[in-house]
Amino acid sequence: MIPVIKTVREVREHVRAWRNEGLSVGLVPTMGFLHEGHRSLIERAVAENDRVVVSVFVNPIQFAPNEDLESYPRDIEADRALCTDAGAAMIFNPEPAEMYPQGFCTAVDMNGLKFELCGKSRPIHFSGVCTVVTKLFNIVGPDRAYFGQKDAQQLAIIRRMVRDLNMPLEVVGCPIVREEDGLAKSSRNTYLNEQERAAALILSKTIFLGQKLVDEGERDAKKLIAAMEANIATEPLARIDYVDVVDAENIERIDRLEGEVLVAMAVHIGKTRLIDNFIASVE
Ligand code: PAJ
Repeated sequence: MIPVIKTVREVREHVRAWRNEGLSVGLVPTMGFLHEGHRSLIERAVAENDRVVVSVFVNPIQFAPNEDLESYPRDIEADRALCTDAGAAMIFNPEPAEMYPQGFCTAVDMNGLKFELCGKSRPIHFSGVCTVVTKLFNIVGPDRAYFGQKDAQQLAIIRRMVRDLNMPLEVVGCPIVREEDGLAKSSRNTYLNEQERAAALILSKTIFLGQKLVDEGERDAKKLIAAMEANIATEPLARIDYVDVVDAENIERIDRLEGEVLVAMAVHIGKTRLIDNFIASVE
């Protein structure tokens, strides 16, 4: 089993030793309770780097007081087994006090990309993500860092942050991994009871419907959104947070589908908020 490291100092000692051997380093930031989606990122990182660090840290500053910080699922031993099997070299699993000691008061924030989609209902979320990801980059100093398209806005934000702040690493985006029936894999799927799990299928079904409509030539964002919302409305347990169409790079709303567009949604199934999306390249 690979080591589970709790301190910044020890991570740095390991990485320094690897660097002295001339080895490349990949980083996969996660909040743990790892599933096949995370595993695909780790495997990609293992294929492209000599050593891979997986961080497992439920980052308190990206959760609002009314969100699921306390109940977020955790199982570090299962995570350790998955990471070992996938070929990672180390897990970094700090306590909150290691990341945010007394007096911590610095943040990394964006003036763009965070206002649409998830940023509307989660106004502090992306500042929390940018801050912790910057810290992880500074702690590990990876050559490459791996993020999933599942969190498309997060991926666009991290890419922009790395570009804007000249962070010396490459950001690698990885495709969404789904359950056999289509539901995007998520640690939060464990919150769903049997009935809700069945209802949650409305997300991926609606994503596939949206993809089909775009393939068939729909270019009007309002019409696309309306069709997708109507489809979600057929599921009584679903409550829409948003369905939106934005420019994939700038995360700004668009009226007509053109270039790289991101079609994204967040839907509550009971108490659980789930997200899904697709990217379309439109001529
Ligand atoms: P978490 O939700 O644990 O996700 C960690 C990484 O796994 C993210 O890059 C996410 O996009 C990716 N991922 C999750 N489900 C996936 C799926 N079904 N297919 C492909 N990739 C998937 O995202 C976070 O944690 C946090 O915000 C973090 C970046 C770690 C900062 O705290």
